[in-house]
Amino acid sequence: MKDYKQLAALAAEAKDRAYAPYSGFHVGAALLCESGRIYIGCNVESAAFPATVCAERTALLKAVSEGERKLKAIAVAGSKSGAEGDYCYPCGVCRQMLNEFAGEDFEVIIAKSADDYRVHKWAEILPFGFGPKDLG
Ligand code: THU
Repeated sequence: MKDYKQLAALAAEAKDRAYAPYSGFHVGAALLCESGRIYIGCNVESAAFPATVCAERTALLKAVSEGERKLKAIAVAGSKSGAEGDYCYPCGVCRQMLNEFAGEDFEVIIAKSADDYRVHKWAEILPFGFGPKDLG
C-alpha cells in the first residue's frame, strides 16, 4: 500500500477552508492526478441548499478544468465544525462524478488525520457503477 500521509494531510488542511454556515459540517479533499499534480477542494454551501458543492467535486472540477483526465487517488477529511475528525465517506453524487475519470487503480483515502486513514480501492467505494464504458 502506498503512503498517503501527504494527501491525507492536505485534505485535513483543505477542510479548514470549508464554507458551511448551514450544516456546520466541514469537508476537505485532496485529489492526486496522473500528472502528479494535486488539487484541493472544500465544500461550499449556498443559501439555496441544493446548490451546495461537496469538497470532492470542488477538487474534481478544479482538476478537470485544468486539463486533467486521469485520477490516481483522492483523500477526504470531514467533521462537524470544531469536532475531531471521523471517517467521512464521499456522498453518492461525488462517487458518480469521480467514476467518470477514475481508472481501475483509483484509490480513496478516508482520513481522520494525516496519521489515521483508511485506503480503499475504487471498486469498494462504487461497486457495479454506471460510467462512460456503459455508453460505449
Ligand atoms: N459534503 C461533502 O463535502 N462531501 C461529501 O461527500 C459529503 C457531504 C458536504 C456537503 C454539505 O456542505 C455538508 O457536507 C453536509 O452535507
